[in-house]
Amino acid sequence: MKTINHRYVRMEQMNHHDSLYSGVLTDWMSEAAFFGVARTLGRRDHVVMCAIQDFRFVAPAELGTILTLRYELAKVGRTSLTIAVEARDMLNPDILYSTCQVVFVNTDENGKSAPHGITMASVQE
Ligand SMILES: CC(C)(COP(=O)(O)OP(=O)(O)OC[C@H]1O[C@@H](n2cnc3c(N)ncnc32)[C@H](O)[C@@H]1OP(=O)(O)O)[C@@H](O)C(=O)NCCC(=O)NCCS
Repeated sequence: MKTINHRYVRMEQMNHHDSLYSGVLTDWMSEAAFFGVARTLGRRDHVVMCAIQDFRFVAPAELGTILTLRYELAKVGRTSLTIAVEARDMLNPDILYSTCQVVFVNTDENGKSAPHGITMASVQE
């Protein structure tokens, strides 16, 4: 997996359990997936988020945690690309906070799904 960014857990992002609010983490994970697909395609246009699959909150993140968000291309379809994302503790990477898989669809100028021309081999070159 490739590191795409880091996030710092701040006071205003906490929930009433004294852990990172799930909606904030969902935002950060889907944004990381978008950065990952943009890096994969070499563009940010004509690609939309279609589905978020199997979002897991594995462990609570406490105030002051520095998260490392990483991604990898998990699946290549005809028009879709699935990006796997995970969030770990930057200072203790054994601690896994969250995982998910985000499906993006390549679109034409009318917003309809269109072949992206990507293969797993072409990305790994
Ligand atoms: C994403 C969108 C273009 C797909 O349209 P669609 O008519 O369902 O397209 P298709 O049926 O041709 O499917 C396109 C691809 O998405 C995949 N797909 C569709 N629904 C899916 C789902 N729920 N889960 C996983 N993959 C899905 C299909 O398997 C297909 O993949 P493939 O071509 O690689 O085999 C359309 O639903 C859309 O515009 N959604 C709104 C997107 C949006 O506004 N996102 C938020 C802002 S980025």
